[in-house]
Amino acid sequence: MNAEELLAAARAARERAYAPYSTFAVGAALLCEDGNVYSGCNVENSSFGLSNCAERTAAFAAVAGGSHRFVAIGIAGPDGASTPPCGACRQVLAEFGPTMTVYFTSGDGYETASLRDLLPAQFELP
Ligand code: THU
Repeated sequence: MNAEELLAAARAARERAYAPYSTFAVGAALLCEDGNVYSGCNVENSSFGLSNCAERTAAFAAVAGGSHRFVAIGIAGPDGASTPPCGACRQVLAEFGPTMTVYFTSGDGYETASLRDLLPAQFELP
């Protein structure tokens, strides 16, 4: 699956976002080494701090589905907004794909980054 295909899957997942509080809908599609693709959307809660980002929804779906090696993720936010993964999601993604590729919508296109560059020093237990 290439960048455009992952971002198309992320846009489809974005349709399922539950974001009544922020109205900032996000979708993600995560490609794993075994070829499986898992999607996720943000899921908010009236207790705001319990909300979950699209990227972590996809990451947890992948692990629950038995896929532990992440290759790439596509992230789609609202038109015109730049939607790189938040810091918490970077740390969660790095657990399963420290060198994975990240595609995120930005302006009227998308940007490409290595997770290593987005999170140069992930936390790891000694
Ligand atoms: N959000 C994501 O889903 N992914 C990100 O990388 C950043 C933010 C969500 C969380 C919340 O539901 C909404 O966007 C506004 O912060």
